[in-house]
Amino acid sequence: MNSKTPICDFVKKYAEQNYVRLHMPAHKGRCFLGYENRDITEIDGADSLYDANGIIAESEHNASVLFGSAATLYSAEGSSLSIRAMLYLTRLKTANKGRKTVIAATRNAHKVFALTAALLDIDVLWLTDERENSSLCNCLITPKGLNETLKKLTIPPDAVFITSPDYLGNIADIKGLSEVAHKYGSLLIVDNAHGAYLKFVDGKLHPIDCGADMCCDSAHKTLPCLTGGGYLHISKTAPEYLKTHAKEALGMFGSTSPSYLILQSLDNVNGLLFDGYADKILKAAHAVTKLKQTLKNYGWTLLENDEPLKITVDANANGYDGRELANILIKSKIMPEYYDRDYIVLMFSAENGDKDISALGSALKDIQLKEKISRKFIKLNPVSVMSMQQALMSPSETVNIQNALDRILACPTVSCPPAVPILYGGEIITRESVELFEYYGITEVKVVK
Ligand SMILES: Cc1ncc(COP(=O)(O)O)c(C=O)c1O
Repeated sequence: MNSKTPICDFVKKYAEQNYVRLHMPAHKGRCFLGYENRDITEIDGADSLYDANGIIAESEHNASVLFGSAATLYSAEGSSLSIRAMLYLTRLKTANKGRKTVIAATRNAHKVFALTAALLDIDVLWLTDERENSSLCNCLITPKGLNETLKKLTIPPDAVFITSPDYLGNIADIKGLSEVAHKYGSLLIVDNAHGAYLKFVDGKLHPIDCGADMCCDSAHKTLPCLTGGGYLHISKTAPEYLKTHAKEALGMFGSTSPSYLILQSLDNVNGLLFDGYADKILKAAHAVTKLKQTLKNYGWTLLENDEPLKITVDANANGYDGRELANILIKSKIMPEYYDRDYIVLMFSAENGDKDISALGSALKDIQLKEKISRKFIKLNPVSVMSMQQALMSPSETVNIQNALDRILACPTVSCPPAVPILYGGEIITRESVELFEYYGITEVKVVK
């Protein structure tokens, strides 16, 4: 390794040398917001993200060493870009096979997955939660359940796509699922947007260590990285073509002006990790585990999730609508990551110190617990009548959800976060789905004309 942070080193030196900047961006390094001096473009020596053979390639190599992957490539456009690339890579698998690409995916997939599948005309076989009562964000699939589904198919899917961790912090049995997927010759792809840090805590929790062929991580969600920083990891055991085509796949969808601030931030994360930042993550994970226990001792019911740095409060079980409870926390100057009627998601990172841990502990200690509210579960049995691409490309109109009964959804309408669609394009809007849209506060949807 030449340097732990080659991109940062290069830009810092460039900024110090006071060049006359006759290149983009037009702020010319002058200070408007405060960081413009280090915001550059592909000048001499700065390498080029989608054709990397200099400092960016070196930095990405450093990241691959840290994550133990065959290749770790940067995204300056979050996991969204990596998801698009992973679907394109799956599409390549079926090139010249004379049939459409098929991916089996859990129904809690992020909307980018659905929109990209629609654009690439990939057929999706939706895998539904194996339990009766599940919420929008989670979708439990066991290796046994996946095996049951796959063995009934005449042609196995080209890939199995799962979201793990989900927004509530549940982690799937990736090892078991990858063994089943591989038995049928399918790739195992994981949306690990919420789990970059899992590589650096106890146990082998990162998908790349559990048998996934590839996964995306949003570095910005759980590591000290600017918003937009993400990874596409290809595992050492994945088919070779994934590594060969991964750059091209990212370049297919990414901006030709990726942010060098974000690239420096990704590069800087490597430096921190090489210098022992994992210890800080581990310490935070232990502190949050302790806090979870303290909250339980106060009588709070938490979702029994597996994510060490995420606390999900089951609002209803504690007598609250999640929105009401979130407002109490916000008034105490604690801002949750996400809340809906049922849950509040509180995300910690290594940057939340003891003060933040005790702030949440004290705030929740002061809130009076109430009689459990029974939750209403609305079970959907979605019926698709046209492909997601057909639905997306059809003439469409926006209608009030009350007038959408029996219409065909054109494209997913979601609130973000969590950006998990209730229905996907091409599916019929039933009475139950209208109810569920309303439950999540969605009042208008786009339907096929
Ligand atoms: C599960 C999941 N996947 C993918 C994404 C997209 O990630 P990004 O915002 O980094 O593009 C998100 C964003 O919230 C997410 O929650």
